[in-house]
Amino acid sequence: MGYMNIALIGYGKMGKAIEEIALQRGHSVVLKIDEPNIHDFTKENLSKADVAIEFTSPHSAYENIKKAISFGVPVVSGSTGWTERLDEMNKYCIEQNGAFIYASNFSVGVNIFFEINKRLAALMSPHDEYEIEMEEIHHTQKKDAPSGTAVSLAEQILGEINRKKRWVNEKSKSPEELTIISKRIDPAPGTHTIKYTSPIDDIEIIHTAHNRKGFALGAVLAAEFIKDKHGIFSMKDVLLL
Ligand SMILES: NC(=O)c1ccc[n+]([C@@H]2O[C@H](COP(=O)([O-])OP(=O)(O)OC[C@H]3O[C@@H](n4cnc5c(N)ncnc54)[C@H](O)[C@@H]3O)[C@@H](O)[C@H]2O)c1
Repeated sequence: MGYMNIALIGYGKMGKAIEEIALQRGHSVVLKIDEPNIHDFTKENLSKADVAIEFTSPHSAYENIKKAISFGVPVVSGSTGWTERLDEMNKYCIEQNGAFIYASNFSVGVNIFFEINKRLAALMSPHDEYEIEMEEIHHTQKKDAPSGTAVSLAEQILGEINRKKRWVNEKSKSPEELTIISKRIDPAPGTHTIKYTSPIDDIEIIHTAHNRKGFALGAVLAAEFIKDKHGIFSMKDVLLL
Protein backbone atom coordinates (compact mmCIF):
# COMPACT_ATOMS: atom_id res chain seq x y z
CA MET A 1 0.00 0.00 0.00
CA GLY A 2 1.45 3.36 -1.05
CA TYR A 3 1.17 6.45 1.08
CA MET A 4 -1.55 8.91 0.14
CA ASN A 5 -2.13 12.62 0.06
CA ILE A 6 -5.45 13.20 1.77
CA ALA A 7 -7.86 16.15 1.64
CA LEU A 8 -10.11 16.47 4.67
CA ILE A 9 -13.45 18.10 3.91
CA GLY A 10 -14.75 18.95 7.38
CA TYR A 11 -12.30 19.40 10.21
CA GLY A 12 -14.48 18.81 13.24
CA LYS A 13 -14.39 15.89 15.69
CA MET A 14 -14.18 13.30 12.93
CA GLY A 15 -11.85 15.26 10.64
CA LYS A 16 -9.37 15.60 13.52
CA ALA A 17 -9.66 11.92 14.52
CA ILE A 18 -9.07 10.92 10.86
CA GLU A 19 -6.03 13.17 10.60
CA GLU A 20 -4.47 11.50 13.65
CA ILE A 21 -4.94 7.98 12.25
CA ALA A 22 -3.90 8.98 8.72
CA LEU A 23 -0.61 10.46 9.99
CA GLN A 24 0.03 7.36 12.14
CA ARG A 25 -0.37 5.24 8.99
CA GLY A 26 2.21 7.34 7.10
CA HIS A 27 -0.18 9.42 4.97
CA SER A 28 -0.09 13.20 4.52
CA VAL A 29 -2.96 15.62 4.93
CA VAL A 30 -2.49 18.15 2.14
CA LEU A 31 -5.76 20.10 2.47
CA LYS A 32 -8.18 20.79 5.34
CA ILE A 33 -11.45 22.47 4.46
CA ASP A 34 -13.84 23.75 7.11
CA GLU A 35 -16.36 26.57 7.27
CA PRO A 36 -13.81 29.40 7.79
CA ASN A 37 -11.79 28.50 4.64
CA ILE A 38 -14.48 27.13 2.35
CA HIS A 39 -13.06 29.30 -0.49
CA ASP A 40 -9.99 26.99 -0.54
CA PHE A 41 -12.19 24.13 -1.79
CA THR A 42 -11.07 24.58 -5.42
CA LYS A 43 -10.20 22.14 -8.18
CA GLU A 44 -6.58 23.26 -8.10
CA ASN A 45 -6.23 22.62 -4.35
CA LEU A 46 -8.14 19.34 -4.35
CA SER A 47 -6.04 18.01 -7.25
CA LYS A 48 -3.07 17.77 -4.86
CA ALA A 49 -4.93 14.98 -3.02
CA ASP A 50 -5.23 11.30 -4.00
CA VAL A 51 -8.48 11.05 -2.06
CA ALA A 52 -10.95 13.31 -0.22
CA ILE A 53 -12.50 12.29 3.10
CA GLU A 54 -15.73 14.19 3.82
CA PHE A 55 -17.25 14.39 7.32
CA THR A 56 -19.29 17.60 7.60
CA SER A 57 -23.02 17.94 8.27
CA PRO A 58 -26.37 16.78 6.90
CA HIS A 59 -26.79 20.15 5.11
CA SER A 60 -23.41 20.39 3.39
CA ALA A 61 -22.52 16.78 2.58
CA TYR A 62 -24.32 16.44 -0.75
CA GLU A 63 -22.80 19.55 -2.35
CA ASN A 64 -19.32 18.80 -0.96
CA ILE A 65 -19.26 15.22 -2.24
CA LYS A 66 -20.60 16.22 -5.65
CA LYS A 67 -17.99 18.95 -5.96
CA ALA A 68 -15.10 16.64 -5.04
CA ILE A 69 -16.32 13.99 -7.53
CA SER A 70 -16.64 16.66 -10.25
CA PHE A 71 -13.00 17.61 -9.55
CA GLY A 72 -12.00 14.00 -10.35
CA VAL A 73 -10.91 12.95 -6.86
CA PRO A 74 -12.11 9.70 -5.18
CA VAL A 75 -14.35 10.47 -2.20
CA VAL A 76 -14.97 8.72 1.13
CA SER A 77 -17.92 10.20 3.03
CA GLY A 78 -19.39 9.45 6.43
CA SER A 79 -21.69 12.45 6.86
CA THR A 80 -25.13 11.32 7.95
CA GLY A 81 -28.62 12.74 7.53
CA TRP A 82 -28.56 13.34 3.73
CA THR A 83 -28.81 9.81 2.33
CA GLU A 84 -32.26 10.14 0.76
CA ARG A 85 -30.07 11.49 -2.10
CA LEU A 86 -27.49 8.67 -1.99
CA ASP A 87 -28.83 6.90 -5.13
CA GLU A 88 -28.70 10.20 -7.01
CA MET A 89 -25.08 10.69 -5.88
CA ASN A 90 -24.06 7.17 -6.88
CA LYS A 91 -25.57 7.75 -10.34
CA TYR A 92 -23.70 11.05 -10.68
CA CYS A 93 -20.44 9.38 -9.64
CA ILE A 94 -20.85 6.66 -12.28
CA GLU A 95 -21.63 9.26 -14.97
CA GLN A 96 -18.45 11.13 -14.01
CA ASN A 97 -16.37 7.90 -13.91
CA GLY A 98 -15.51 8.83 -10.32
CA ALA A 99 -14.99 6.75 -7.18
CA PHE A 100 -17.13 6.92 -4.05
CA ILE A 101 -17.59 5.06 -0.78
CA TYR A 102 -20.36 6.04 1.60
CA ALA A 103 -20.84 4.38 4.98
CA SER A 104 -23.23 5.42 7.72
CA ASN A 105 -20.65 3.87 10.05
CA PHE A 106 -17.04 3.08 9.17
CA SER A 107 -16.07 1.03 12.19
CA VAL A 108 -15.03 -2.59 11.66
CA GLY A 109 -17.16 -3.68 14.63
CA VAL A 110 -20.33 -2.02 13.35
CA ASN A 111 -19.89 -3.48 9.89
CA ILE A 112 -19.65 -6.94 11.46
CA PHE A 113 -22.67 -6.00 13.64
CA PHE A 114 -24.57 -5.17 10.39
CA GLU A 115 -23.98 -8.73 9.17
CA ILE A 116 -25.17 -10.19 12.51
CA ASN A 117 -28.23 -7.90 12.40
CA LYS A 118 -29.20 -9.14 8.93
CA ARG A 119 -28.71 -12.79 9.94
CA LEU A 120 -30.71 -12.40 13.15
CA ALA A 121 -33.53 -10.63 11.28
CA ALA A 122 -33.61 -13.41 8.66
CA LEU A 123 -33.85 -16.05 11.43
CA MET A 124 -36.58 -14.04 13.20
CA SER A 125 -38.60 -13.42 10.06
CA PRO A 126 -41.09 -16.32 10.52
CA HIS A 127 -41.46 -15.79 14.28
CA ASP A 128 -44.26 -13.24 14.62
CA GLU A 129 -44.39 -13.61 18.39
CA TYR A 130 -41.25 -11.48 18.69
CA GLU A 131 -41.70 -7.69 18.78
CA ILE A 132 -38.68 -5.68 17.58
CA GLU A 133 -37.39 -2.38 18.91
CA MET A 134 -34.20 -0.39 18.34
CA GLU A 135 -32.54 2.16 20.60
CA GLU A 136 -29.63 4.44 19.72
CA ILE A 137 -27.74 6.71 22.12
CA HIS A 138 -25.43 9.52 20.97
CA HIS A 139 -23.88 12.73 22.33
CA THR A 140 -26.07 15.84 22.54
CA GLN A 141 -24.29 17.69 19.68
CA LYS A 142 -25.46 15.15 17.15
CA LYS A 143 -27.55 16.97 14.53
CA ASP A 144 -29.63 14.14 13.07
CA ALA A 145 -31.99 11.56 14.59
CA PRO A 146 -32.19 8.66 14.20
CA SER A 147 -28.49 8.11 13.61
CA GLY A 148 -27.31 7.07 10.14
CA THR A 149 -26.24 3.75 11.66
CA ALA A 150 -29.73 3.21 13.10
CA VAL A 151 -31.25 3.92 9.67
CA SER A 152 -28.90 1.32 8.11
CA LEU A 153 -29.80 -1.23 10.81
CA ALA A 154 -33.53 -0.50 10.34
CA GLU A 155 -33.33 -0.88 6.56
CA GLN A 156 -31.54 -4.21 7.01
CA ILE A 157 -34.36 -5.42 9.32
CA LEU A 158 -37.11 -4.17 6.95
CA GLY A 159 -35.34 -6.04 4.14
CA GLU A 160 -35.69 -9.33 6.03
CA ILE A 161 -38.90 -9.05 8.07
CA ASN A 162 -42.06 -8.68 5.97
CA ARG A 163 -44.34 -7.82 8.89
CA LYS A 164 -42.40 -4.56 9.38
CA LYS A 165 -43.18 -2.03 6.64
CA ARG A 166 -41.39 1.13 7.83
CA TRP A 167 -39.35 2.55 10.69
CA VAL A 168 -40.53 5.45 12.88
CA ASN A 169 -38.47 7.57 15.26
CA GLU A 170 -40.87 7.20 18.19
CA LYS A 171 -42.48 4.48 20.26
CA SER A 172 -45.02 2.81 17.97
CA LYS A 173 -47.79 0.37 18.80
CA SER A 174 -48.43 -0.53 15.16
CA PRO A 175 -47.16 -4.05 14.33
CA GLU A 176 -46.16 -2.73 10.88
CA GLU A 177 -43.81 -0.11 12.31
CA LEU A 178 -40.29 -0.60 13.62
CA THR A 179 -39.70 1.64 16.63
CA ILE A 180 -36.37 3.51 16.81
CA ILE A 181 -35.88 5.35 20.11
CA SER A 182 -33.17 8.07 19.93
CA LYS A 183 -31.56 9.27 23.16
CA ARG A 184 -29.03 12.10 23.39
CA ILE A 185 -26.72 11.76 26.40
CA ASP A 186 -23.11 13.02 26.78
CA PRO A 187 -20.47 11.81 26.14
CA ALA A 188 -21.77 8.74 24.22
CA PRO A 189 -19.95 8.27 20.87
CA GLY A 190 -22.65 5.78 19.81
CA THR A 191 -24.60 2.80 21.15
CA HIS A 192 -27.08 0.76 19.10
CA THR A 193 -29.33 -1.93 20.58
CA ILE A 194 -31.77 -4.18 18.74
CA LYS A 195 -34.13 -6.10 20.96
CA TYR A 196 -36.50 -8.92 20.03
CA THR A 197 -38.99 -9.54 22.84
CA SER A 198 -41.58 -12.25 23.29
CA PRO A 199 -43.62 -13.51 26.27
CA ILE A 200 -41.15 -16.43 26.48
CA ASP A 201 -37.74 -14.82 26.04
CA ASP A 202 -35.79 -11.87 24.67
CA ILE A 203 -32.78 -11.63 22.38
CA GLU A 204 -30.74 -8.44 22.35
CA ILE A 205 -27.71 -7.41 20.28
CA ILE A 206 -25.72 -4.32 21.27
CA HIS A 207 -22.83 -2.41 19.72
CA THR A 208 -21.12 0.21 21.89
CA ALA A 209 -18.47 2.54 20.47
CA HIS A 210 -15.96 3.63 23.15
CA ASN A 211 -14.49 6.47 21.10
CA ARG A 212 -14.21 7.79 17.51
CA LYS A 213 -11.04 5.90 16.60
CA GLY A 214 -12.91 3.00 15.01
CA PHE A 215 -14.81 5.33 12.65
CA ALA A 216 -11.61 7.20 11.79
CA LEU A 217 -9.59 4.04 11.11
CA GLY A 218 -12.37 2.63 8.91
CA ALA A 219 -12.52 5.87 6.92
CA VAL A 220 -8.73 5.77 6.33
CA LEU A 221 -8.93 2.07 5.33
CA ALA A 222 -11.69 3.02 2.89
CA ALA A 223 -9.49 5.81 1.46
CA GLU A 224 -6.57 3.38 1.03
CA PHE A 225 -8.94 0.97 -0.74
CA ILE A 226 -10.51 3.49 -3.14
CA LYS A 227 -7.42 5.53 -4.02
CA ASP A 228 -6.85 4.30 -7.59
CA LYS A 229 -10.28 2.83 -8.30
CA HIS A 230 -13.37 3.90 -10.23
CA GLY A 231 -16.89 3.00 -9.15
CA ILE A 232 -19.15 2.75 -6.12
CA PHE A 233 -17.98 0.67 -3.18
CA SER A 234 -19.03 -0.06 0.39
CA MET A 235 -17.37 -1.13 3.62
CA LYS A 236 -18.33 -4.70 2.70
CA ASP A 237 -15.80 -4.41 -0.15
CA VAL A 238 -13.17 -2.76 2.04
CA LEU A 239 -13.47 -5.31 4.85
CA LEU A 240 -14.17 -8.33 2.60
CA LEU A 241 -17.37 -9.14 4.53
N1 LIG B 1 -19.93 7.33 9.16
C1 LIG B 1 -19.36 7.29 10.38
O1 LIG B 1 -18.67 6.33 10.76
C2 LIG B 1 -19.56 8.49 11.29
C3 LIG B 1 -18.98 8.51 12.57
C4 LIG B 1 -19.12 9.67 13.33
C5 LIG B 1 -19.81 10.76 12.82
N2 LIG B 1 -20.38 10.68 11.60
C6 LIG B 1 -21.06 11.83 10.96
O2 LIG B 1 -20.05 12.68 10.43
C7 LIG B 1 -20.51 14.04 10.43
C8 LIG B 1 -19.49 14.91 11.16
O3 LIG B 1 -19.37 14.48 12.51
P1 LIG B 1 -18.43 15.24 13.55
O4 LIG B 1 -18.63 14.53 14.83
O5 LIG B 1 -17.06 15.39 12.98
O6 LIG B 1 -19.16 16.67 13.59
P2 LIG B 1 -18.51 18.08 13.96
O7 LIG B 1 -19.67 19.01 14.09
O8 LIG B 1 -17.53 17.94 15.07
O9 LIG B 1 -17.67 18.47 12.63
C9 LIG B 1 -18.25 18.83 11.41
C10 LIG B 1 -17.37 19.92 10.79
O10 LIG B 1 -17.83 20.20 9.47
C11 LIG B 1 -17.70 21.59 9.26
N3 LIG B 1 -18.55 22.01 8.16
C12 LIG B 1 -19.89 22.30 8.17
N4 LIG B 1 -20.28 22.66 6.93
C13 LIG B 1 -19.19 22.58 6.13
C14 LIG B 1 -18.96 22.82 4.75
N5 LIG B 1 -19.95 23.21 3.93
N6 LIG B 1 -17.71 22.61 4.27
C15 LIG B 1 -16.71 22.21 5.07
N7 LIG B 1 -16.85 22.01 6.39
C16 LIG B 1 -18.08 22.18 6.91
C17 LIG B 1 -18.08 22.21 10.61
O11 LIG B 1 -17.57 23.54 10.73
C18 LIG B 1 -17.42 21.23 11.58
O12 LIG B 1 -16.10 21.63 11.92
C19 LIG B 1 -21.90 14.00 11.07
O13 LIG B 1 -22.87 13.94 10.04
C20 LIG B 1 -21.89 12.70 11.87
O14 LIG B 1 -23.17 12.15 12.06
C21 LIG B 1 -20.26 9.57 10.82
